[in-house]
Amino acid sequence: MKLIFFLVNLIIINTTCIVKPKQCLHYLNKKNDVYFSLDLLHNRRCKLHFLLKKNIKNNIYRYKHKNKSRINNINKKNNDNGDDVFSVSEPRLRFAPSPTGYIHVGGCRTFLYNYILSKQMNGKLIFRLEDTDTKRNTEGSLHEMIKDLKWLNLDWDEGIDIGGEYGPYKQSEKIEVYKKIAHDLVDQKRAYLCFCTQDELKEKKERAKLMKKKYIYDRMCRYLNEEIVTTYLIQNKSYTIRFKSPENRKIVLKDILKKEIKEVVNEDFIILRSNNAPTYNFSAAVDDHLMKITHVIRGSEHISNTFKQILILESLNANIPMYAHVPVITDIEKKKLAKGIMNI
Ligand SMILES: *[C@@H]1O[C@H](CO)[C@@H](O)[C@H](O)[C@H]1NC(C)=O
Ligand SMILES: *[C@@H]1O[C@H](CO)[C@@H](O)[C@H](O)[C@H]1NC(C)=O
Ligand SMILES: *[C@@H]1O[C@H](CO)[C@@H](O)[C@H](O)[C@H]1NC(C)=O
Repeated sequence: MKLIFFLVNLIIINTTCIVKPKQCLHYLNKKNDVYFSLDLLHNRRCKLHFLLKKNIKNNIYRYKHKNKSRINNINKKNNDNGDDVFSVSEPRLRFAPSPTGYIHVGGCRTFLYNYILSKQMNGKLIFRLEDTDTKRNTEGSLHEMIKDLKWLNLDWDEGIDIGGEYGPYKQSEKIEVYKKIAHDLVDQKRAYLCFCTQDELKEKKERAKLMKKKYIYDRMCRYLNEEIVTTYLIQNKSYTIRFKSPENRKIVLKDILKKEIKEVVNEDFIILRSNNAPTYNFSAAVDDHLMKITHVIRGSEHISNTFKQILILESLNANIPMYAHVPVITDIEKKKLAKGIMNI
């Protein structure tokens, strides 16, 4: 589906100081859906207010970059506040779409959050492409995406088109990196080779379905002894690599926008497929680590992914970035906008 091109109208209306402790990035969707306002709380006292104005007639968003230095000045003025959650010595934010279509307003908004905050924090914005899920990729959409963002006069500091210190920024170009890290995790006994075949897994899934249970991999290969593993390897049996999830451990997500969310990851999920391609949750976490990302701002549909990603980051002894999950934009009928077009 070819989607709408957007111009986003970002108007800096005012800069108000309000007391609203802990909440740092606020999203407001007015009832009539004409305005989306973005409130970015710079620190505990000062809030920046932006408004996305929708031109209903053309279904177009206009973007106007008013004055960058104004944002920076506000930043400096309030820098004495020590407990600003955004204060990190080198803030690095990322925009990490999959190339599955044209950029839509949800993706654009995610970009804007990252863009504004990276400017406000004097940080860097990284544009990387999560394209290892080769089935879903559509040719040319990366080019379109960049064109659309450039058309909106938006830019970034490192990324696929301009390079940078932490490249490549296209995940499909560093398959070997993920492969090595996955095998390192096997050596460290944080992951294991799984020789279960597609058919075997299918059967297990069907059995779970019959018993009306949620399918979860039974960890059979987690307990294979070394000799059997060696034998299978000599026989050239194909394998995937699964992560050893800790049993019944609650993983805590401290989202900037929400209360703490706790969840147990009971699944030994696949991190490397039998064709050596990394799975999404693995490559996303590995890249957040390798690219030294400090803040992950993305749509709330990603919350459930975060727990697996935190596990991966922990196993890599990486710093866990700060997370902010912003609500999904809905249209007037409250349907998720342009579902599946772009998974930001
Ligand atoms: C931006 O704002 C600052 C401070 O408010 C001002 O000094 C500067 O001239 C403005 N720049 C432009 C291009 O308007
Ligand atoms: C496994 O693969 C290697 C290299 O592709 C080959 O030399 C070897 O003969 C294979 N072994 C078996 C048991 O098929
Ligand atoms: C990532 O992990 C989440 C949470 O378990 C899962 O729902 C999702 O399908 C995974 N994503 C991919 C692309 O495998």
